[in-house]
Amino acid sequence: MARGAVVPVPVAIRHAAVVAVLVLAAAHGALCGHVEFAAGVVARGGGNAPSVRPGANVTGAAGEPAPSPESSLVGCGCGPAPAPWQFLNYKLAALWPVIQAFKKTITCDPLGVTATWEGPDLCSSFFNGTKYRGFYCEYPPNANATLTVASIDFNGFGLCAPSLVGFVDQFPDLALFHANSNNFSGDVPDLTHLPFFYELDLSNNNFSGSFPDAVVPLGGLLFLDLRFNRYAGAVPPAVFALTVEALLLNNNGFDGRIPDSFGSTGAKYLVVANNQFTGPIPRSIYNTSATLSEVLFLNNRLSGCLPYEIGLVEGLAVFDAGGNEIAGPIPLSFGCLRDVEEINLAGNQLYGQVPDVVCLLAKTGKLQNLSLSDNFFHSVGHHCMELVRSRVLDVRRNCILGFPDQRPALECAAFYADPTKHCPFIPHIPCDLPGYHHYPPKAAHGHVQGQEGGN
Ligand SMILES: *[C@@H]1O[C@H](CO)[C@@H](O)[C@H](O)[C@H]1NC(C)=O
Ligand SMILES: *[C@@H]1O[C@H](CO)[C@@H](O)[C@H](O)[C@H]1NC(C)=O
Ligand SMILES: *[C@@H]1O[C@H](CO)[C@@H](O)[C@H](O)[C@H]1NC(C)=O
Ligand SMILES: *[C@@H]1O[C@H](CO)[C@@H](O)[C@H](O)[C@H]1NC(C)=O
Ligand SMILES: *[C@@H]1O[C@H](CO)[C@@H](O)[C@H](O)[C@H]1NC(C)=O
Ligand SMILES: *[C@@H]1O[C@H](CO)[C@@H](O)[C@H](O)[C@H]1NC(C)=O
Ligand SMILES: *[C@@H]1O[C@H](CO)[C@@H](O)[C@H](O)[C@H]1NC(C)=O
Repeated sequence: MARGAVVPVPVAIRHAAVVAVLVLAAAHGALCGHVEFAAGVVARGGGNAPSVRPGANVTGAAGEPAPSPESSLVGCGCGPAPAPWQFLNYKLAALWPVIQAFKKTITCDPLGVTATWEGPDLCSSFFNGTKYRGFYCEYPPNANATLTVASIDFNGFGLCAPSLVGFVDQFPDLALFHANSNNFSGDVPDLTHLPFFYELDLSNNNFSGSFPDAVVPLGGLLFLDLRFNRYAGAVPPAVFALTVEALLLNNNGFDGRIPDSFGSTGAKYLVVANNQFTGPIPRSIYNTSATLSEVLFLNNRLSGCLPYEIGLVEGLAVFDAGGNEIAGPIPLSFGCLRDVEEINLAGNQLYGQVPDVVCLLAKTGKLQNLSLSDNFFHSVGHHCMELVRSRVLDVRRNCILGFPDQRPALECAAFYADPTKHCPFIPHIPCDLPGYHHYPPKAAHGHVQGQEGGN
């Protein structure tokens, strides 16, 4: 395989299976665009989401002491241990009792994978063997002659275990742990002492309780996937300060406001869909303009006015805030989203005119899908008409006179008579659009407050 031709992969994780994931993800992004990512992450159990390119510094020294093989093999009570000399090296000898102890805690194993976890060949997969399914070895950067377990991939194994503590945290050279579609629960282990660790996928498991604080200090993390669990409560603000490229928190029971620290995220893919979040989309979103590409807020209980600042996130390809209680007109700043392919605002409390500058993005930009059904818009801009005909724009169940499939007039009248739903209209266009006023870049940075800037 063209190893590293598409994506530079750190030495630590240059295992074929791992590289396949990374290269495929890169190819996927390049060939299929981004929209499939957005659809994929909210679909249950669809394997791990696209992995992201590791950019972390994995060449730092770790220098863990070499454990004595003899001492680490006694006292685990897990059947006949291989003799120390049967292992390829001391690192593998030390990992054997860790795996055996974990095996004893497993309460279901529908595919029978744990039956392969026996004997001294922990790196069987490296030599194309069939032992130790789910464990993948590599030469770590700081010990380039000592093959050891660098990634664990249990995706789809359906294993049940009450805890991962004492297991995942005991692999000193681990870079990835993937456990999509198992039945793990309990606390997330402290992985801060693993110098090469960068990818954690616990999606579609049985985790519950509050946000797992153990992940917050993981400075090197590039990929965090907690979707489809039963986590609840607030998401700590520090989560948005993680260096991750992908942060997937969808389909849990998280609630409370999305912290203002949201703007600190360096993530390219950020998904908080299908939770119970309340309050507004933070205005600090403007601060993500260098990195954010796809953001999914859909199906929460978000309210407030649609922030002008979203239009400043120049690289957005997918913006999805459907199925919330967000009010207001669409700010004209949305006309600056030149890379946007999909905007979903269906099922909110939006009103006014669908801006012409947004519909123009289908002509001058990349817009392919503008979903605005189930709102209270009363009219559409000139360029929107042809989008309705070509089904790029969906404005069903709004308040647009003369359009088919609209809300009853009484419902619309009642909505427009209710002053509590009203938001300021912000006419600023923070980019150069032909035929529209260009505002100096200065205006693009500050928060636009209230009603200022009427023109
Ligand atoms: C990687 O980390 C090591 C040790 O911390 C440091 O010496 C080196 O300069 C770093 N390399 C890069 C490219 O940041
Ligand atoms: C394992 O299989 C791959 C692909 O079939 C091959 O390229 C590689 O050389 C094999 N490795 C060993 C150690 O046999
Ligand atoms: C492995 O380590 C040795 C000694 O530290 C070094 O001389 C050698 O170049 C390294 N090999 C690779 C492939 O990094
Ligand atoms: C987890 O266990 C429950 C109850 O046994 C089962 O219904 C569910 O399918 C399991 N989930 C996975 C991903 O294996
Ligand atoms: C899921 O977790 C709960 C505790 O939160 C536990 O009682 C239950 O047995 C777990 N289900 C499975 C299938 O492991
Ligand atoms: C903007 O992002 C940087 C990190 O990229 C962060 O330090 C800063 O606090 C953020 N500011 C706001 C207002 O979000
Ligand atoms: C457009 O987006 C909406 C909302 O995400 C989705 O339901 C619909 O299927 C999409 N339409 C097309 C043609 O992709």
